[in-house]
Amino acid sequence: MDLELTPEQKLLRDTARDVATKEILPRAAEIDRNHKFPRELVSRLGELGLLGVAVPEAWGGAGMDTVSYALALEEISRACASCGVIMSVQNSLVCGPLAYSGTDAQRARWLPLLASGQAIGGFALSEPEAGSDAAAQRTTAVRRKAGGGWVLNGTKNFITNAPAAQVLLVAAATDPSKGARGISVFMVPTDAPGVKIGKSDDKLGIRGAESAQVFFADAVVGDDALLGAEGDGFKIAMRALDGGRIGIAAQAVGIARAAFEDATRYALERKTFGQPIADHQAIQFKLADMCTEIEAARLLVWRAAVKKDAGAKFTSEAAMAKLFASEVANRAAKEGLQIFGGYGYLADFPAERHYRDAKITEIYEGTSEIQRLVIASSLLKD
Ligand code: CAA
Repeated sequence: MDLELTPEQKLLRDTARDVATKEILPRAAEIDRNHKFPRELVSRLGELGLLGVAVPEAWGGAGMDTVSYALALEEISRACASCGVIMSVQNSLVCGPLAYSGTDAQRARWLPLLASGQAIGGFALSEPEAGSDAAAQRTTAVRRKAGGGWVLNGTKNFITNAPAAQVLLVAAATDPSKGARGISVFMVPTDAPGVKIGKSDDKLGIRGAESAQVFFADAVVGDDALLGAEGDGFKIAMRALDGGRIGIAAQAVGIARAAFEDATRYALERKTFGQPIADHQAIQFKLADMCTEIEAARLLVWRAAVKKDAGAKFTSEAAMAKLFASEVANRAAKEGLQIFGGYGYLADFPAERHYRDAKITEIYEGTSEIQRLVIASSLLKD
């Protein structure tokens, strides 16, 4: 089945493919090598409407649907997985919750800046002891006795975009006795007093998507920083992650495609035993499996996106898409590298970058184990 794309969806996909091929792909190896947030390319994504794809036009976004977002994100990730996750976090985990849970004042302050790329955002949920168990928040937010506002204390881990960010969505316990129901989310400017961003993490892959620890030491924010109602933070975060998992699944399809397309081109050029290796059945079977799995993963991504756009519950569909696509990306990257043989192991060729980039898709925005729990919990409930 192919999704019947609207002219607008095709246009956005083609726009993303064009910038990905002409401007991002030529720089992907350098971005990986330098471990540097690709500031100018991210600004370019903002100019093209790719940082606020689903943000309403009234707030400076492209006002498009989740299918468009998934199509565009696959194209960007096919060129550069680091750019893919930067785009995914900005759209799904920052603009998303701000658009549906923010006040008009919060939206007016942040969405135009975020959608255009003038401001970068991060989503600060994970902590040293709250990863898969996201409700185990140790970061606290306490109402100030005088002067209004909140005081935050705690540490966040692995926060993608934090070193480049102007604002973070921060989950914190406002009533630790209530567990998940005692968590709230705050919009915290990174230049607020008491906020410190740690040094960038040294990672296996997606090295251009800088991430870091974030420390809050009596960090003060105003009353207007609370996003949604007090105590609703866990649900806001889970809803954001439902959307985010569609994004990571699309990123994984993009990485898988990169591994597959690069390996196919190489297989047609490289000769062994007097003929291109693409003529050997051993290679053909690998390419056939990669191609089939990528098509299947993309259909799962589209299915979750279509459900989200229809306003239906899509938690389980997003988890299935993320689970399957991330595993497909890892298999494709492994087989792609194998097709390159010894050259695949060298940094001179992109196969080893895809191999390193693919791994994170099975970990962030909920590990594969968490996705299986989410799917099982939904199927047993239904
Ligand atoms: N949407 C809305 N509400 C939801 C929800 C969802 N998808 N999932 C759960 N909830 C609600 C529940 O209905 C429940 O509400 P009530 O109290 O009213 O009944 C409440 O939240 C608590 O739900 P659970 O009891 O199911 O929560 P739990 O503590 O068992 O945790 C979990 C569930 C699925 C394991 C969750 O902790 C989880 O998703 N963990 C993984 C965390 C994760 O993905 N982290 C990613 C970090 S961000 C990142 O990776 C970004 C990046 O770098 C790119």
